[in-house]
Amino acid sequence: MKIEIPKNRCGSLLTSEPVIVITTMDKEGQVNGAAYGSYVRVAPLIMIAISPGQHTYSNIKETGEFVVNLPGRDQLDSIMVFGRNYPRGVNEVKEAGLSQLPSLKVKPPRIAEYKAHIECRFKWEKEVGSHNLVAGEMIIGSCDEGLVDEEGHFDVVKAGVLHIVRYPKPIYISPERYFEGKLTMSY
Ligand SMILES: Cc1cc2nc3c(=O)[nH]c(=O)nc-3n(C[C@H](O)[C@H](O)[C@H](O)COP(=O)(O)O)c2cc1C
Repeated sequence: MKIEIPKNRCGSLLTSEPVIVITTMDKEGQVNGAAYGSYVRVAPLIMIAISPGQHTYSNIKETGEFVVNLPGRDQLDSIMVFGRNYPRGVNEVKEAGLSQLPSLKVKPPRIAEYKAHIECRFKWEKEVGSHNLVAGEMIIGSCDEGLVDEEGHFDVVKAGVLHIVRYPKPIYISPERYFEGKLTMSY
């Protein structure tokens, strides 16, 4: 027997992507950080659902640049700081007790203690309900030494990335191991 899942809960049937913290700068150079869980990546783009009232949204529109930062389990407590609604101009990276690391190609900084980073440039946006889907091109990535395997794949188990499965009272899951699938046909 199957049970019905209402429209507003359909999304919960699919585990989300890992939670990210986006760092941006306004045109005066003030740093902002905020947490996001609703996004999709289709290389070379990442498309994030951002409420237009948020500082992240206005900063991306002002400067055209942002950095996607990936926390691990050790940084779990810091994520809630990035979910709080601080006044414009407050640097949430400092509020969270974390440090800024200059980025390789864009002005907004990386979060030094976080595991991995993707530097992005704004491409386009599309209104989707109460959010805007903001698309950025992924320009360059970086991660902690030791988190990339011999084939160049980022090790999500070692990094302890946190997938958000409940919101607004956040609950996360973190991958524990890999399962290798069998190739049944050749491409
Ligand atoms: C785990 C987590 C995930 C979140 N995901 C989203 C999201 O996908 N989209 C969104 O608009 N806000 C999301 N938020 C809320 C923003 O982080 C929050 O509104 C933040 O204050 C925005 O900051 P800003 O105004 O400095 O940009 C999330 C918050 C948390 C804690």
